[in-house]
Amino acid sequence: MSAGNERFSAEAAAWDSNPDVHRASESALQAILQHRPDLVEDKDNASTNGLDVLEIGCGTGLLTLRLAPYVRSIVAVDAAQGMIDALKQKLAKAGEEDGNESNRLQDSVKPVCVLLEDPEDPALPPSDPSDTSPACPRRRFDLAISHLVLHHIPDHPALLKTLFGCLKSGGQLALTDFENFGPQARRFHAERRMDGVEFHGIEAALFAEQMRAAGFVDVLVKPEWEMEKAVERFPGEWNTGKPKDVGLETMQFPFLLCRGTKP
Ligand SMILES: C[S@@+](CC[C@H](N)C(=O)[O-])C[C@H]1O[C@@H](n2cnc3c(N)ncnc32)[C@H](O)[C@@H]1O
Repeated sequence: MSAGNERFSAEAAAWDSNPDVHRASESALQAILQHRPDLVEDKDNASTNGLDVLEIGCGTGLLTLRLAPYVRSIVAVDAAQGMIDALKQKLAKAGEEDGNESNRLQDSVKPVCVLLEDPEDPALPPSDPSDTSPACPRRRFDLAISHLVLHHIPDHPALLKTLFGCLKSGGQLALTDFENFGPQARRFHAERRMDGVEFHGIEAALFAEQMRAAGFVDVLVKPEWEMEKAVERFPGEWNTGKPKDVGLETMQFPFLLCRGTKP
């Protein structure tokens, strides 16, 4: 993970300049809202009665900030300090703007730089906000999300065990990533961007099995949308720094929504 960590810190400043990441985050938001229509119905009461969300691998907050108006709080975790700094800058900018929406964003989104491997990690907020002791049990969440992160994590059973521990009883997972539909899935990343890539997408049946083994019930892992993406025509085509819109070839990539509930 450390190589990927450095890669993502270095890429953070330019992350949002890629239109693909905005499109993918918007599709992830729509998939989550479709799966949880109550978030749309109860949006007006979200700041008081909404869900407490944990997001793993929030990056610069593209999904975080889209989802924030629909929930009470989001603890947005990323292992790369550069990504967390970019999200903090966005929140500070929102804070400079006057208005209820920007104040609410600042109050509800908490960026945290940590490689989360333990539900009791002291970097997470305490269950009792007035207790600053590291011995205080950490907060539990109603919903855990991640987008385009699973394929960077080498040990899915360990991640699922951590997320299971972070959720309240009745809490849900809603993880999105591209599907490993066969050898062509490798083309999702250009060869020069393979640093930190652990899997060329997620295998739906295997991941569902791993979710059940971690203790989740009502598990459903299936493709929810497709994204068109420019790809290299041959491995390494863009290594020379050639712009990716020259001699463009595109492919459709299916995206999975991985859902499950902690009993
Ligand atoms: C491809 S980026 C996606 C960022 C963001 N979700 C988006 O869609 O724009 C993957 C992110 O996951 C983070 N990451 C990978 N493994 C992680 C882990 N175990 N814990 C926290 N963050 C992790 C990386 O630092 C990186 O910012």
